[in-house]
Amino acid sequence: MDSKYSLIGNGNKLNISQFKIKPKPTPILFNRRNGPSSPKKVKLNDSESKPSLANGNKFKISIQEQRTKLPVYDKKNKLLDLIKRHNTLIILGETGSGKTTQIPQYINSARLQNNGKIAITQPRRVAAVSIATRVAQEFGNGQTVGDTVGYTVRFEDVTSKRTKIKYLTDGMLLREAMFDNLLMEYTVIILDEAHERTINTDVLFGIVKNAQKVRESRNLEPLKIIIMSATMDVDHFSKYFNNCQAVYLEGRTYPVNVFYTVKPHDDYQTASVATFFKIHREAPANHDVLIFLTGQEEIEAVAHQIRVLSKDPEVEGPPVRVCTLYAAQPSSQQMTVFNPSPQNLRKVIISTNIAETSVTITGIKYIIDSGMVKARTYHPATGLELLKVQRISQEQAWQRTGRAGRDSEGTCYRLYTRSQFEMMQKSTIPEIQRANLTSVALQLLALDIHALYFDFMDKPPEDAITTAFEQLKLLGAIDNVESSSLTSLGEQMVKFPLDPRFSKILLSASNFGCLVEVLTIVSLLSVESILLSPPNKREQVQMIRQKFFSAYGDHITLLNIYREFSNVGQNCRSWCHEHYINMRNILQAREVRSQLEEICTRAGLTLSSCGSQMEQVRRCLLTGLFMNVAELHRDRQYITLDKRQVVSIHPSSVLHGQQPHFVLFTEVVQTTKRYLRLLSTVEGEWLQEAAPDYFRTHSIKCARES
Ligand code: CDP
Ligand code: MG
Repeated sequence: MDSKYSLIGNGNKLNISQFKIKPKPTPILFNRRNGPSSPKKVKLNDSESKPSLANGNKFKISIQEQRTKLPVYDKKNKLLDLIKRHNTLIILGETGSGKTTQIPQYINSARLQNNGKIAITQPRRVAAVSIATRVAQEFGNGQTVGDTVGYTVRFEDVTSKRTKIKYLTDGMLLREAMFDNLLMEYTVIILDEAHERTINTDVLFGIVKNAQKVRESRNLEPLKIIIMSATMDVDHFSKYFNNCQAVYLEGRTYPVNVFYTVKPHDDYQTASVATFFKIHREAPANHDVLIFLTGQEEIEAVAHQIRVLSKDPEVEGPPVRVCTLYAAQPSSQQMTVFNPSPQNLRKVIISTNIAETSVTITGIKYIIDSGMVKARTYHPATGLELLKVQRISQEQAWQRTGRAGRDSEGTCYRLYTRSQFEMMQKSTIPEIQRANLTSVALQLLALDIHALYFDFMDKPPEDAITTAFEQLKLLGAIDNVESSSLTSLGEQMVKFPLDPRFSKILLSASNFGCLVEVLTIVSLLSVESILLSPPNKREQVQMIRQKFFSAYGDHITLLNIYREFSNVGQNCRSWCHEHYINMRNILQAREVRSQLEEICTRAGLTLSSCGSQMEQVRRCLLTGLFMNVAELHRDRQYITLDKRQVVSIHPSSVLHGQQPHFVLFTEVVQTTKRYLRLLSTVEGEWLQEAAPDYFRTHSIKCARES
């Protein structure tokens, strides 16, 4: 082990308990290893003499000057020429080389899009918003986002008639395709971050490929397709897109020293805090740190620990600015990540895998990689869709590592061992092969395509497609599983930008006279949690929120909170503060609610309220979530009716510690056990009514067995 790089040198042991976090005697030891596929090592001779982007943070160079320093800048003409000549083109280039922000501008300035628009898809909302904002800034001339450059993400459309360059989530472009499957609004479609292989991107591959072909055959305005990514299996992509041309933009990356821990560390949160403070003590103030964790809760917890500990007089090191980056944040807060920090301040960014490839942050010298990511996985066999923290792939590990080598040499601390790394999957499995396909199947049906016959780049397992069609039938969206057309209910469901189960709930609400209430609940479930739960204030939180608690469960409790919130008016900030409610999330829920209400009104639904008749609400929830019911068994275990899985009520639920006979749940999370989250109590006799076909085969059988 190279002592210069070892995290814990002799006589210089870092004991985590020294930081007053959970005492844990094990110091974290790292080995130094540079992997075979570590990022390319390119040295720039002149990096000393001219202010590189590395210092874009610290030196003030104009935004236009920054543009000219991007690797893509020198390739502008060559790229434009290729784009002109090829109808489909793959562009590969390191993260930060300027693909996403520059290429659309080049196309626009050369007017290659003629009278149409340029669409650039992003798998994540945060990327679409932040990049569009940045590009609008680069346009200058007092332009703001929504003028020439705009974005569309779910529940937010910031575009205008003048918009030529439109950043949008892949999900939004897919929705647009449902209204016009030839996507005539666009003459250039850039599918960015293609390697992420989100379900939506995978479906879009087929949709745009088809749109291009049909437009050509009908002599309509041609469609140019550009596939972009920092990393991908070019041959696989090229083959799918009729052996199209691929171009590789050489980027600038510097060597990154990689360390693995000597021993495995299960508690990667604590390990990341400890590793941060080790770096913090030793590295110059302007060396920024990027930590990869898995989700909002974890990120906020670590951010809190670092904020508190860095102010401790016993902890050495410069002042710290902690920034967080995760999907659920409002864009204004996300943007703080990109703000330059003063020389004497250390910036630490704690992010989900967003910072892996979709956004570039300059000035990062150190990476701390937990090796974990939160991903949705679905098991057709068990019928459970799980939001699960799992290991990343080797490809992702290298992407994360590369974030430290963008501006100059860097260091990456992997909070896992070398052999754990070697056991990781080589590359990430496309989401389409591991997710519930109900939503996709429905969207494709809206395009008159049966998922079994869709031109997927990688076909999902057939049983996953079959299960999806069975679910659509149970939800009433189709008449039979072979059907390629929707029922009128199905056609209504497509109008909502929601999971079909929630669309169904909204569409059933009028029958139960509770659309007002259900709109609120569905909106609250569509945003990140509105409940703050600071670990050191558990009792206060419990006490102040007591008045909202409903014996019927979490959905009604959330509804009670929202009802009071909507009556507080001007004092909303202090009310949220007092009740430990995340204000931005509840405000976002309000926004989502008003948009869903608009869709309901357009669909001719009656906005009826059931007042305090909570039975109606719970019956209504069952019409969409009937597949998510668990029953209490004699040994006090809950077992799901659907696939007979053993599950427990999550400690965060108001029903935790109680034992209602039947519970309806919104989701399952797997940590040490399979936990049900966001529950409502339901009555056995309602089940039949909610989904007669389904419960004819399920609940009765289960009830008899138990
Ligand atoms: O797409 P690619 O990873 O190749 O790069 P990009 O997203 O176009 O980013 C190019 C440069 O723009 C980055 O190096 C950042 O310095 C800058 N950028 C920024 O400052 N703020 C953003 N929101 C996005 C990009
Ligand atoms: Mg990009």
